[in-house]
Amino acid sequence: MTDPTLPPEDLNQLVDRMTLEEQVSLLSGQDFWSVNPIERLGVGTLRVTDGPNGARGAGNGGSIMEGIPAACFPCGIALGATWDVDLIGEIGAALAQEVKTKAAHALLAPTVNIHRSVTNGRNFECFSEDPELTAALAVSYIKGLQNEGVAATIKHFVGNESEVERTTMNSQISERALREVYLRPFEDAVKIAGTWGVMTSYNRLNGPFASENDWLLEGVLRGDWGYDGLVMSDWYGSHSTAATVNAGLDLEMPGPTRDRGKKLIMAVESGEVSRETIRSRVLNILTFMKRTGALNDDGTAAEASDNNPAHQALIRRAGAAGTVLLKNENQLLPLHPSIKKIAVIGPNAKTARIMGGGSAMLNAHYAVSPHEAIVDKFGEDGIVYAKGCDNHRFEPLWTGDLEAEFFDNQKLAGEPVHKERLSEAEVLWAPPIADGKVNPRRFSVRLTGTFTPEQTDTYRFGVNTVGYTKLFVDGELVVDAHTDWKKGRTFFEEGCDPVIGTLSLEAGKAYTITIEFISNEASTLVYAAFRVGIAARMKDKDIVDAALAANESDVALVFVGRSGEWDTEGSDLESIRLPGRQDELITAVATANPRTIIVLQTGGPVEMPWDTDVRAILQAWYPGQEAGNAIADVLFGDVEPQGRLPQTFPMHWEENPTWSKDPAVYPGKDGTVRYDEGVFVGYRHYLEHDLKPLFPFGHGLGYTEFTLSEMVVTPKADGASVSIVLTNVGLRKGSTVIQLYVRDIEASVNRPKRELKAFRKVTLAPDEKQQITFDLGARDFAFFDETEGLWRVEAGAFQIDIGFSVTDIHQTGTVSMPGLTIPV
Ligand code: BGC
Repeated sequence: MTDPTLPPEDLNQLVDRMTLEEQVSLLSGQDFWSVNPIERLGVGTLRVTDGPNGARGAGNGGSIMEGIPAACFPCGIALGATWDVDLIGEIGAALAQEVKTKAAHALLAPTVNIHRSVTNGRNFECFSEDPELTAALAVSYIKGLQNEGVAATIKHFVGNESEVERTTMNSQISERALREVYLRPFEDAVKIAGTWGVMTSYNRLNGPFASENDWLLEGVLRGDWGYDGLVMSDWYGSHSTAATVNAGLDLEMPGPTRDRGKKLIMAVESGEVSRETIRSRVLNILTFMKRTGALNDDGTAAEASDNNPAHQALIRRAGAAGTVLLKNENQLLPLHPSIKKIAVIGPNAKTARIMGGGSAMLNAHYAVSPHEAIVDKFGEDGIVYAKGCDNHRFEPLWTGDLEAEFFDNQKLAGEPVHKERLSEAEVLWAPPIADGKVNPRRFSVRLTGTFTPEQTDTYRFGVNTVGYTKLFVDGELVVDAHTDWKKGRTFFEEGCDPVIGTLSLEAGKAYTITIEFISNEASTLVYAAFRVGIAARMKDKDIVDAALAANESDVALVFVGRSGEWDTEGSDLESIRLPGRQDELITAVATANPRTIIVLQTGGPVEMPWDTDVRAILQAWYPGQEAGNAIADVLFGDVEPQGRLPQTFPMHWEENPTWSKDPAVYPGKDGTVRYDEGVFVGYRHYLEHDLKPLFPFGHGLGYTEFTLSEMVVTPKADGASVSIVLTNVGLRKGSTVIQLYVRDIEASVNRPKRELKAFRKVTLAPDEKQQITFDLGARDFAFFDETEGLWRVEAGAFQIDIGFSVTDIHQTGTVSMPGLTIPV
């Protein structure tokens, strides 16, 4: 499809050969995942894919949840916990190969919003509460991708630290907090990694939407940082014609356009948007396409599913590298070879929790559960299993053969225009729906299937839906999620909270279930969805059985936590206690067997009222498709737990930085959320208020021991060089993360007591020593001076602390800095 008369690299010439209509056509998507080609001029098709823990591809038909299988990598916080820039670079490169298998040119990743609260639904997707760690990992991730010719689209720019009213919320953040904390990963992504893409966030920032925020896009991003790449909106996050284009938003996604196309042509004709502005937006898109090869892509390549062994191995290694051993009394881990019987307990034991929820979800090649992996290593004979309790947010998904009949009206009237079979009762339909035979805003569907209960019991039927849904069992209305439908916290904030109905059912009897679905034409995002779950509640006896299993075993492994139902885009958590009866289960098991090990899988901190009752706690997050193997590798000592906490675990939810009596601070009030804590985010907050966390930032144990010695600080003209000696004093090879924190002892402004400025993951053999050197520059000592609009180092003494966590400091030194200013 290339135009032989035009060298594709001459983008200026190319843009000038386009009509205004053609130029404008490039400024919006043609569908959910691609941009309009211009055949006349040989301009190919740009395709993008989510992101960030795999390359999902465009999905199958209308449903984005049913893409062809893809590799599922560890989630953001698990990668954050590795503190391993080299590993993240390898993952970036592997993700680039994954993107290519999905015939795409850009990954919508990495997600670098900051863990401001402990309840953000997308906490799992972001690396850390710390800007330095987030920035370093983002740089490596982006370089890994882009060295392979695939664009990164770092997101969400900026101030999207919560999912509450996420598409309209105004994040009110001081410029100092923005520059020092929230903008920092984006700044390094531009200045150091040279990211080709940036995605604006849904929220407003200090007033205007991020997607039309001139200060942010033209001022900071392109002005201060000299960004020369593409700015695209989050999905449906662009809300205007002239304002977004003039402020610097190049691409409106997804397509077809809502605010551009003809409207933009009229805005140009009326003089609201200049031809020169359109030209530079188009040039940004063409540059992005050229960088990624999309300019010459005829868009015909099919998506492929490549279950690549090298990626499987990398995912397994990365999963283990991110596990954080929080506690290990009497070296209960790794499991001793003398152990003959293991109780494998908990709701996350047989279900592989591989990823969080929302747009980061994908159809993984496979998912290994901890139970499977332990059976594999230890053999089935020595294992006794008990689930103990549930931890779901929604009733377990109803699976089976369902027939769906589509009607091109909202009344289930007349003959169906299309029929489809589904294998489970969860669907998210985005246009084109029913092969394009229904109006995506005005259609209805009748689904029919059967449910045969295994036991005679009272069953709970849960329905959440974007649109209106009624559920009938043998003709009897059991759930009405139609009559009083109210927007809740499901399906990206577009669906209702689950509506529950109960009914007594008999074991072995087949019940006919009918679902009547009617689309809601007023839904903000153009998609329709529903989910039906059915289950009987677990009982007291299940906890008793788990305790008995623990009692008769040498050791009890309890797999607890959450799932992507809780840790998900579109919905913040309402508490950081483990859901359901899991705390009770842990206490019962720990009472029955003192050798109890907790394996947690969550996308962020949890309260642990039982932490002193158990001997060992391992946090494994959502580590991707190799979940069980990665966890078992660590439990059995084949691999060390190398992770360190990228986020503080507070004792109680009330101690976290966003806790306030004023809801405007969190979760927001009257459409505004105020970041009143300023730069005191994460560990900076706990140190400032003398709060002892449950587990501090940077904490994590290994299977060997290290010491730090011989710290030397050498002043330089604009910073310092710091060296230190690390020694492995334990009995086995292992790794640790050396963390360097800076404090301005004589600051005239309120500055954090410690700020992470450098870190290094190091692996050493027993008795091996290594000298490590860190180079600190002026910015490592500076704060952002809002009055002058620049970075300022105040003359005076700075303390440099080096240790294994923010509170486990082993060596301290000082350096005197001259007064300095650094431009933005
Ligand atoms: C998310 C983005 C994602 C996009 C496309 C949005 O809901 O906020 O992170 O890339 O959808 O799926």
